[in-house]
Amino acid sequence: MSQEFGGEVTFLEFATDPAKTAGPATIATFAASPGPIRGRGARRAVKDDTAALLGESPEMVDVSAHLRRIAVSQSTVMLVGESGTGKELAAQLLHACSARSHGPFVSVNCGAIPANLVEAELFGYERGAFTGAVRQHQGYFERAEGGTLFLDEITEMPIELQAKLLRVLETGRLVRVGGTEEIATDVRIVTATNRACDAAVRDRRLREDLYYRLAVFVVKLPPLRQRGDDIELLAEAFLAALNDDNGTSKCFDQSALAEARAHTWPGNVRELKNCVERSYVLSDDLVKLDIQPGPETSGDDLEGRECVRLPIGVTMADAERELLLATLRHCGGNKRRTADMLGVSLKTVYNKLVGYGIATPLLRAAGDA
Ligand SMILES: Nc1ncnc2c1ncn2[C@@H]1O[C@H](COP(=O)(O)OP(=O)(O)OP(=O)(O)O)[C@@H](O)[C@H]1O
Ligand SMILES: [Mg+2]
Repeated sequence: MSQEFGGEVTFLEFATDPAKTAGPATIATFAASPGPIRGRGARRAVKDDTAALLGESPEMVDVSAHLRRIAVSQSTVMLVGESGTGKELAAQLLHACSARSHGPFVSVNCGAIPANLVEAELFGYERGAFTGAVRQHQGYFERAEGGTLFLDEITEMPIELQAKLLRVLETGRLVRVGGTEEIATDVRIVTATNRACDAAVRDRRLREDLYYRLAVFVVKLPPLRQRGDDIELLAEAFLAALNDDNGTSKCFDQSALAEARAHTWPGNVRELKNCVERSYVLSDDLVKLDIQPGPETSGDDLEGRECVRLPIGVTMADAERELLLATLRHCGGNKRRTADMLGVSLKTVYNKLVGYGIATPLLRAAGDA
């Protein structure tokens, strides 16, 4: 759906999967899953895009329980976490588990709306408010009435507009652009960012007063590399969903899940999901994992040497593991060369691999212990 706006065409996409839309907003309804989901339930949740955060690691069990508890309140929630950790899914879960679940869930990517259109898109406008405003237009706030408005990438909202947003949140009333009438709003606000909020406030990307208004609850989605067995669980769930969709019964080969476990997944669940899809398409019955280097590792930087890409926030232990495994891959699985290159003993390399719980096939592939 598109509409004329200020002489330009703006875009409003209506779909249930934001990743599949090009526009700044989605409007959808979601079913909530009743609790932790396994097996067939997990497959169905992935397929149907049910608001279900899969995961049985202590970190994810805690996050899911916390989200369900706070879902019933009217308080604002700010979701923080690296890209691909499931913030949008968490917002859907908050909505689906709330008393507002029968109302709309409106998801707006603040970074995808041109700065000069943000106010009109959020609060709406009256006919004649500006050239091209040929009819009255309801903004995202009004469309989310009775439901949840998810403001993604909130730190990308122009700072001047943040003061207006704060005012609407404080008063519960808005005025459309070009209008005078105050309109009461009944909307629950959930926001998300993958920036550190303290830095965003310090850099004046986010007003401090707005931050405190939006962050009654702050929920951090942990990176996938800290979720232990969830990596396997999610990989299996994504593969099962693909099998269901295509009437196949492919399964992972011996080493695939160990390799998945060993990778640090800088793109988190999104990267894993895409990796499983790619691996599924490229494999026959036994699915080998096709992990691709991140954008920074594929270039010829550092004088043509391969690189390891590490997001800020990884622990020293994770960084060490990633470097060791990347070096091992570079050395074709040869542990002695890996040890030489890293300047440690062969025993250290061997002990580390055992400590990572990497399955024997990877060790056997090294073939030189
Ligand atoms: N716990 C989970 N269980 C099942 N699927 C998940 C989970 N977490 C994320 N996903 C899937 O991974 C993809 C990315 O998730 P989502 O869009 O919610 O991440 P995000 O944190 O909003 O990312 P970004 O910061 O890049 O916007 C989606 O396809 C989502 O369905
Ligand atoms: Mg998102």
